[in-house]
Amino acid sequence: MPATCVIGLQWGDEAKGKIVDRLTREHDFVVRYQGGANAGHTVVVGDQTYKLSLLPSGILTPGVTCVIATGVVINPARVIEELDELAGRGAGHADNLRISDRAHVIFPWHFAEDRALDKSTSDGENIGTTGRGIGPCYRDKVGRAHAVRLGDMYRPGFRAQIEHIAVAKNRVLEVLYPPNEFQPIDASAAFREYSAYAERLRPYVCDTTELLLSAVESGKRLLFEGAQGALLDVDHGTYPFVTSSNSSGVGIASGSGVPARHFTKSIGVVKAYSTRVGGGPFPTEQDNPTGQYLRDRGNEYGTVTRRPRRCGWLDVVALRYTSRLSGVDSIAVMLLDVLSGLDELKICTAYDIDGKQTTRFPSHVDDLRRATPVYETLAGWKPEITNCRSWSELPGNAQAYLGRISTLVGQPVEMVSVGPERDQTIVVKKS
Ligand code: GDP
Ligand code: IMO
Ligand code: MG
Repeated sequence: MPATCVIGLQWGDEAKGKIVDRLTREHDFVVRYQGGANAGHTVVVGDQTYKLSLLPSGILTPGVTCVIATGVVINPARVIEELDELAGRGAGHADNLRISDRAHVIFPWHFAEDRALDKSTSDGENIGTTGRGIGPCYRDKVGRAHAVRLGDMYRPGFRAQIEHIAVAKNRVLEVLYPPNEFQPIDASAAFREYSAYAERLRPYVCDTTELLLSAVESGKRLLFEGAQGALLDVDHGTYPFVTSSNSSGVGIASGSGVPARHFTKSIGVVKAYSTRVGGGPFPTEQDNPTGQYLRDRGNEYGTVTRRPRRCGWLDVVALRYTSRLSGVDSIAVMLLDVLSGLDELKICTAYDIDGKQTTRFPSHVDDLRRATPVYETLAGWKPEITNCRSWSELPGNAQAYLGRISTLVGQPVEMVSVGPERDQTIVVKKS
């Protein structure tokens, strides 16, 4: 039975939400397994646009169980907001939601730490986090002493746990903030606030590891929805300019509890060019009118923070690395329509680092900073392609661009997206 993985192969925002939404109907479960409310996944259904941060994109489809698994860090207020928003719009299928009792919870001190720490990296360049408390919560999870899991919130020791942690966190925050900005955590208020969230989420909370193992063992079809992208993976990405979870394919088993041997198919989601939000090196960045053209046509502004996304040419050195790392069998090339109108397109096929050409993606960010892209130039196409629904309707130069990407990455192009809507998708037939 299929267990399908959908993984972003760049720095996030590759349009994973659209692909997950499209594949949902062929599956029984949709599973988020890492990240948190730093993710912003957009699904367009008719004239309605949904922006989901924590709820799996499958929530919009009836009859599908949506799981927020153990590797996700939960901001309960945000889950409730998303549920309320969907209910207010008469959309979504909240009854099908399940949230792991093992998932770690984001508290007010995590937001406060995130804000303070992002301004004080050792080399002065900010990571530019989304400010959603993600890094501090994952750090506490690994540190163990000051962590709270969702299941803890239903136990008699919860109040004492919060009081114990608040004492330590107030000491930390007092050091991180100047005296006039330090706002101590009020443990009683936090306990009251989070107890109310716990009550509201009670119907959804369960042992999702057991649920997913039973599902996969009984032949149910699972779809794993990655958040962020493989270049933001905490171990294998452009560290330290990464998120704090394993956002490449390697994180699926650990975050969900489903062993990798059950995965039958992995689709790498690739934007037809590159974007990045926040700090860190970006060799193919076009901080010029070409970048602005991509930003304008692709509406490249962060879904979560509305920050303008940095834009640039496609980087195949990075893509080859992340597609191998994530073990993908095919790629979906998204936002191809954005490239219409350009005279020529560039694909980065190698890096020049200190006068030496390499196709290896550097393991140290300082080397990536010194990388000058070596480009291959292809002819662009002029017509808009948003109405194309088959490979043969695409302009020859668009076909050639996709063909070249496929050859360079070493994976077949399985889907091509030419607009945000569900039907603006070309499924590439295998010849
Ligand atoms: P995700 O985080 O990977 O799910 O991606 P985001 O939702 O943050 O960003 C992708 C954006 O591109 C969203 O606004 C989508 O509605 C939009 N989008 C998806 N596919 C296409 C496409 O083929 N063309 C265009 N122009 N926009 C698209
Ligand atoms: P989706 O799922 C794009 C980036 C932030 C920052 C870095 C660390 O929508 O693709 P964090 O708040 O995670 O500690 O920030 O990671 N980032 C994303 N960029 N898309 C995302 O999610 C992102 N989630 C985090 O901009 O550079
Ligand atoms: Mg996004």
